[in-house]
Amino acid sequence: MIAAPAFAANPVSIDIDTGKPGPIINKYVYGQFAEHLGTGVYEGMWVGPKSSIPNTRGWRNDVVGALKALQVPLVRWPGGCFADTYHWRDGIGPQDKRPSNVYGSRVEEINAVGTHEFFDLIEMIGADAYVNGNVGTGSVREMADWVQYMTADGGSPLARLRAQNGREKPWKVAYFGIGNELWGCGGNMKPDYYANLYSNYEHFLWAPEKSRPKMIASGGSGFDTSWTQVLSKELKGRTIGITVHQYTVPTGNWEVKGKDLGFKEDEWISTLANTLKMDQLIKDHVVVLDKNDPEKKIGLMIDEWGTWYDEVNPRGGLFQQNSLRDALVAALNFHIFHEHAERVPMTTIAQMVNVLQAMILTDKEKMVLTPTYYAFQMYAPFQDAKSLPLAIKDNTRYTLGAVTIPGVSATAARAKDGKVHLALVNTDPHKAVDVAVNVSGTQVKGAAGQVLTSAAMDAHNTFQNPQVIKPAAFSTRAAGGKLAIKVPAKAVMVVALEE
Ligand code: AHR
Repeated sequence: MIAAPAFAANPVSIDIDTGKPGPIINKYVYGQFAEHLGTGVYEGMWVGPKSSIPNTRGWRNDVVGALKALQVPLVRWPGGCFADTYHWRDGIGPQDKRPSNVYGSRVEEINAVGTHEFFDLIEMIGADAYVNGNVGTGSVREMADWVQYMTADGGSPLARLRAQNGREKPWKVAYFGIGNELWGCGGNMKPDYYANLYSNYEHFLWAPEKSRPKMIASGGSGFDTSWTQVLSKELKGRTIGITVHQYTVPTGNWEVKGKDLGFKEDEWISTLANTLKMDQLIKDHVVVLDKNDPEKKIGLMIDEWGTWYDEVNPRGGLFQQNSLRDALVAALNFHIFHEHAERVPMTTIAQMVNVLQAMILTDKEKMVLTPTYYAFQMYAPFQDAKSLPLAIKDNTRYTLGAVTIPGVSATAARAKDGKVHLALVNTDPHKAVDVAVNVSGTQVKGAAGQVLTSAAMDAHNTFQNPQVIKPAAFSTRAAGGKLAIKVPAKAVMVVALEE
């Protein structure tokens, strides 16, 4: 238990206005991405029913249990670039009769995990589906058949085929993505060409009205708004969202990205500074959306985000370690997404297990939860919460060399449990910070929650030492009608306020 010590004379001040709630923070903002890449699906989650690793119909029990506890609201599957060449019919029917194939990842895919297995997983963990279709090497007919196979409720040969393969009832598909990264691995297209293709595909994706997935157009990358520009103009009424992908690279240089562990403070601050650019990126895309879609019918879906480091681990497959720094990256992005809740209804971090900024790492029978897992867990109350306006006064600055970033980042919302939840990040790796919290119209009596921090910037859990970093309980009481919170250096904190 960490209790807050005495209050500084000049604290950072946070004013929360509970009288003017903002938009709901869609639970899908906390979505995840699971791609057939490296050990992200096979080994990381799927070991097969005959494995000695305890499993349920092939899905490892330890991972399923951890994901269920995380309250994952949405899973994007099967890619990414993998989706751009994936043929769904290879992944249905008896598992021992499914063909293996080499899709775009150029790695042999055994197709043990297909549509039925994916839905089995997400039903076990309680998540909704975001299925990504293949525009790159697929066809309109193939995609239309897949949507029918998943959603048709009878009177259709594809619904009968689904039943024959063991699933009578249609599944719920929350979102369906028409292609991925069409400007690159999805087919090296130009946005106008894709806009036409999208309209053609979307037109034929029939499904019963009540269960038709919301269709998503695959957009651009980073600060380039040209795809958002074309798609928001051309696809009005045909899409509810345009995607953008934005990764955090410590050095900002894709050739030499920076290491996952053992980095120096210059890469601590540059990583956080680079991740904070997400705010400007969203603003740039929203300017375009506001012009072309003033009715606000189209959302900006950030369906790939997170850290991407140099691949030093011999396992390959974009496996990287995950440290306290990743937890701060996740938290800072959550704050930005909350700020833009009106236009950002969904994001999926890349990725769920063993790939890039993962929640969970596995090594054969061993499993470890990462600091990013704990960040997602701590922020669970923000799913479907009502955002609250928050102002930070007298903020500290954290500077190293030529780089300066805000010391404190904060967000607040009234959660479904009726309580105001406040999240705080202190980016400074050296100094704790005192924060005075004022809530309009209320005398806050205290706050209780969790804090995630450690002595080392790259503190991480390993298969040998899986408990090096995890959240600690935190609570504090108000004194003289004032609530003061001491946020440790390099920390993420989430508390519920006692009104
Ligand atoms: O997340 C890893 C890869 O990054 C995805 O397959 C692709 O869409 C992106 O380029």
